Amino acid sequence: MTELQVNGERLWASLEAMAQIGPGVAGGNRRLALTDEDKAGRDLFVAWAREAGCAVTVDAVGNIFVRRAGSRADAPPVMSGSHLDTQPTGGRYDGVFGVLAALEVVRTLNDHGVTTQRPVEVAVWTNEEGSRYQPAMNGSGVFAGAMALQAAYDQVDADGLRFGDELERIGYRGEAPCRVFPIHAYIETHIEQGPVLEAEGSAIGVVTGIQGIKWFKGALRGFNAHAGTTPMEVRRDPLVGAGRMLDAIDRTTRRLRPDAVATVGEFAVSPGSINVINEEVRFSLDLRCPEDAALLTLEEKVRVACGEIAEDMGLELSLEEIWHSPATAFSPQVVEAVEQGATAMGYSARRMVSGAGHDAKYMADICPTGMIFIPCRDGVSHNEAEHIEPEQAEAGANVLLQAMVHLAGQ
Ligand code: HGY
Ligand code: MN
Ligand code: MN
Repeated sequence: MTELQVNGERLWASLEAMAQIGPGVAGGNRRLALTDEDKAGRDLFVAWAREAGCAVTVDAVGNIFVRRAGSRADAPPVMSGSHLDTQPTGGRYDGVFGVLAALEVVRTLNDHGVTTQRPVEVAVWTNEEGSRYQPAMNGSGVFAGAMALQAAYDQVDADGLRFGDELERIGYRGEAPCRVFPIHAYIETHIEQGPVLEAEGSAIGVVTGIQGIKWFKGALRGFNAHAGTTPMEVRRDPLVGAGRMLDAIDRTTRRLRPDAVATVGEFAVSPGSINVINEEVRFSLDLRCPEDAALLTLEEKVRVACGEIAEDMGLELSLEEIWHSPATAFSPQVVEAVEQGATAMGYSARRMVSGAGHDAKYMADICPTGMIFIPCRDGVSHNEAEHIEPEQAEAGANVLLQAMVHLAGQ
């Protein structure tokens, strides 16, 4: 079946065309979920899907499903997909590569007049990144039944704009119900977003699972007072407390184990005036670890460290969990299909766990699931400098083609 190969130039041209939508300021992309840029990217993809002769369905949370018929119309499809929304300073390939590699599989099957037994389906999941609206991955989360649709609709962004209203505004609040339907297997292709494949010179990552993730929203409250008249010893300055807390989180995580990670991505002070001791600091916290038990231990240790600092400084600490994505193991059947696809195509490959979260996490809860990684330069992602080479994109799409045709049957 290795005579069947994707058209790498066409795939690269599609990646380049999508990258023109919602350009960043340094060569990457800014297509935050449910913005006009997200709409434009979705519209372009839907147009391509229709050109490829596929049926297009949009569900109630804006997930897009593109189906290429198989000879067994009633058979559950083999599905692939990812996301088109990006981080504020995102790259061109995070999510987009997985969507367009799956479209390239459809285009290649069309080129060669291949009829698969099972339908082949491409999914574009709403709001994978979770930057504008949290939690992340709520398109696939609602689809898989892990999140409530109304809760997704009621999320509000930093400007007070409601998810449900923005979805309506961009015209992607679809008629189809957002709920699970039978799927034979799901394979997501994605850039690694880390340094392992490039460092080892492996062309393909055969992903066996995703590490555990916990997100929190925190606040540290003190007492705002005059910068000039308040002696140091009576101050309750939450910004000073936050500084000590950030250092404690960093040290606690490094001490626990080398594969545990902690990130404070959002950080805001109030009132934020040059001559006022702040009243409050608000922040986010992202904790991750490959093992759930260790992730819970990390959370406990971080809470103790931060609580001691708050108590010592007379500050009030709140740390509310807003999302928990337990560690996920993928299906051996799909992992093997990916590994066999890489071997059949002669690509070097190695098994690995994903450090980043993906929609495949929720798909693994409802059907046999796996992922394919390709390297990205210096492992950099969530950065406009994110970069891959055309032949890397081609290799990932070829492995996806092999695995999907194997699972869909000819
Ligand atoms: O947060 C993540 O891991 C993913 O990139 N959204
Ligand atoms: Mn992604
Ligand atoms: Mn991402």
